[in-house]
Amino acid sequence: MPLPPLIAPSLLAGDHANLAASARAVADCGATWLHCDIMDGHFVPNLTFGPETLAAVRRAGSKLFLDTHLMLAEPQKYIEPFARAGANLISIHIEPAYDHRGTLARIRQLGCQCGIVLNPGTPAASIEALIGEVDLVLVMTVQPGFGGQSFRRDMLPKLKEIDSWRSARSLRFRLEVDGGIDLATAKECRAAGADTFVAGTSFFKAADKTAFAASIAGL
Ligand code: DX5
Ligand code: ZN
Repeated sequence: MPLPPLIAPSLLAGDHANLAASARAVADCGATWLHCDIMDGHFVPNLTFGPETLAAVRRAGSKLFLDTHLMLAEPQKYIEPFARAGANLISIHIEPAYDHRGTLARIRQLGCQCGIVLNPGTPAASIEALIGEVDLVLVMTVQPGFGGQSFRRDMLPKLKEIDSWRSARSLRFRLEVDGGIDLATAKECRAAGADTFVAGTSFFKAADKTAFAASIAGL
């Protein structure tokens, strides 16, 4: 049974002078997840925001499920501050060398769900040994670092491969896509097994955000 589709609008495409209002716009259109992109200028060539921003969004009253995507060279150092700030799920990349398994376990210990992320150039096989230990697998559909890039259609076979492992092993992790997602590309990803759709530019630029979120939820 495929999991119900879920939209995770990305705060990166919101108004950085008023992120609390951007989070409210997400909740107002019926979405329950908020994707938070954390970049360190090392693992990716860009900087965004840190745990204090998540804590501030929480203090402003947001009850959204904070889906926190750490694009960090040393994510293991920052798990606790993000958990304390109110993250609900913390995803870490497979590419840098650190104790992936131990870091996933630490995320769980702190009461959060955990996810593993792969860049476009990283083969599915690199995460196969970890799929029994995660709540989410995030397949990047652009090279991470910037919003507004074009969807990489060549990631569809990777989604199918991970989805087939999930069925074969009766696992229940969410399969998320991130980068260049709009209604058309979300449809293609859904057909390839994805159920969780990060949408930055397409969500915040939508004239009718409620209708856009409903179309994703209806895929
Ligand atoms: C890219 C980030 C994405 C980004 C997606 O590095 O991980 O979450 O916000 O933005 P769009 O939807 O504009 O491609
Ligand atoms: Zn992201």
